[in-house]
Amino acid sequence: MSGNIAVKMSGIVKKFPGVVANDGVEFEAKVGEVHALLGENGAGKSTLSNVLTGLYRPDEGSIELHGEHVTFSSPRDALNAGIGMVHQHFRLVPSFTVAENIVLGEDDGGVFLNTADVVARVEELSLRYGLAVDPRARVWQLSVGEQQRVEILKVLYRGAKVLILDEPTAVLTPQEADVLFTTLRAMVAEGRTIIFISHKLDEVMAVSDRVTVLRGGKTVGTIDTAGSSTRELARLMVGRDVVFDRVQRKNPAKPEQHVLVTVGLCANDDRDNKALNDVSLSVGAGEIVGVAGVSGNGQRELAEVLGGMRATSAGSFHVGGVEVTAGRVRRSIAAGIAHVPEDRLHTGLAASHSVEDNLVLKSYRNNPISIRSILNRKAIRSNAETMVQRYDVKTPDTETPVRLLSGGNVQKVLLAREFSAGPKVLVAASPTRGLDVGAIETVRERLVAAADDGVGILLISEDLEELMSLSDRILVMYEGRIVGNLSTQEATRESLGLLMGGATVGGHTA
Ligand SMILES: Nc1ncnc2c1ncn2[C@@H]1O[C@H](COP(=O)(O)OP(=O)(O)OP(=O)(O)O)[C@@H](O)[C@H]1O
Ligand SMILES: [Mg+2]
Repeated sequence: MSGNIAVKMSGIVKKFPGVVANDGVEFEAKVGEVHALLGENGAGKSTLSNVLTGLYRPDEGSIELHGEHVTFSSPRDALNAGIGMVHQHFRLVPSFTVAENIVLGEDDGGVFLNTADVVARVEELSLRYGLAVDPRARVWQLSVGEQQRVEILKVLYRGAKVLILDEPTAVLTPQEADVLFTTLRAMVAEGRTIIFISHKLDEVMAVSDRVTVLRGGKTVGTIDTAGSSTRELARLMVGRDVVFDRVQRKNPAKPEQHVLVTVGLCANDDRDNKALNDVSLSVGAGEIVGVAGVSGNGQRELAEVLGGMRATSAGSFHVGGVEVTAGRVRRSIAAGIAHVPEDRLHTGLAASHSVEDNLVLKSYRNNPISIRSILNRKAIRSNAETMVQRYDVKTPDTETPVRLLSGGNVQKVLLAREFSAGPKVLVAASPTRGLDVGAIETVRERLVAAADDGVGILLISEDLEELMSLSDRILVMYEGRIVGNLSTQEATRESLGLLMGGATVGGHTA
């Protein structure tokens, strides 16, 4: 049977200062299978992938590729041996074309590059695997989903037989994710091996043949997907049952007591196209207002306008009846608007700064964090210790730079800061994206607790289950406008789906 094994990793140990990220991991993936890698935030999934692709040297353990012992000293080494990785954060050059990006970093440096040949070969690969993208387009013109296809094409172009995808669907719409799954199945049908990392258990059930679960840097076990269930997977991951019941509210929402009102907001996107078109909405005290929509229909711009990061071209917004000056982050913060942005590492946090400094990034001017402009390190430290414990942030200590944390733990730092700022309004874009099932449960409870305390919450998400289970009512955005305002009773997958696709059901003011 060993001829059937593509990758075998034995006793992998990888330590970082203060953390054992991989603590004797056993992992084996077969030829022609989609093998899912599952585990809580910080369990060691990305680290294991980085060991396999030669980015990290393991402290102990061995790797076999098709029965042969291998050691890699760089990702290029691994790629030459047929192992390629698609990272969650893309590494493409925006001003180059798709074809140029694909050959960038080739051994000959692309010096003897014949563009027509490359384009033809890329077109052939696109067609074969359903990875639709124009090889002549420039990367900055592409959607996130298309950029991901370029990353996949890039490793296929180099002949990768084993592809590792680290949370590939976190940035995709549900429709794009379905297309990706078809591609993955086509690749394994040809004898490739896919290692698929995801926190979405229903995706793992739908696309994988087998699943390996990591916990605390160790392998919990490997099971066949058929015959398992999302429930069993969740239990293996967190070591207990996870139930997503509707969280009970203690205090009802007061929709008529407006905390946030927007009037005719208009704004442009980064390419100067109209992204928000006459958006008027209100959020009441303690009300959770969901915002549904296919990504790219103005949701991000709405959140950025409210967070003070984007200028408006018309309209206004008000917190507690007072108009907030648009386009100034500090004004939005002072008005009591907390903002959990979509792109956490770039806009939400200062990646190279410590956990403790990031936790006070917005309050460093206030007592007790600073007293007469002098930072109080003791208060900063003790604030961080409380937050790390409350939000179960896995970090060696509070001085560790945020960029060294696992993806999910970065997210927890941001949520902790925004929730604890004592906001009047919380604008949250996909707050549970990238979190493991246990952490999702915690964040949902925090959202509801904030609403119980009277905070008005604008919850932007593409996850309809999440919107329907948390919201008091749901707005739908399409092409920069609000095209629907549904009560939880009216909101079904079907009614929301229709509106999200642009079906008109009369005019609406939200
Ligand atoms: N370069 C690094 N330096 C220091 N610590 C690191 C580094 N990379 C990862 N770690 C730590 O190793 C542990 C495992 O992290 P890893 O990124 O592998 O987790 P993960 O399973 O991918 O989690 P997530 O689901 O949140 O992405 C974490 O505690 C993380 O903080
Ligand atoms: Mg990770």
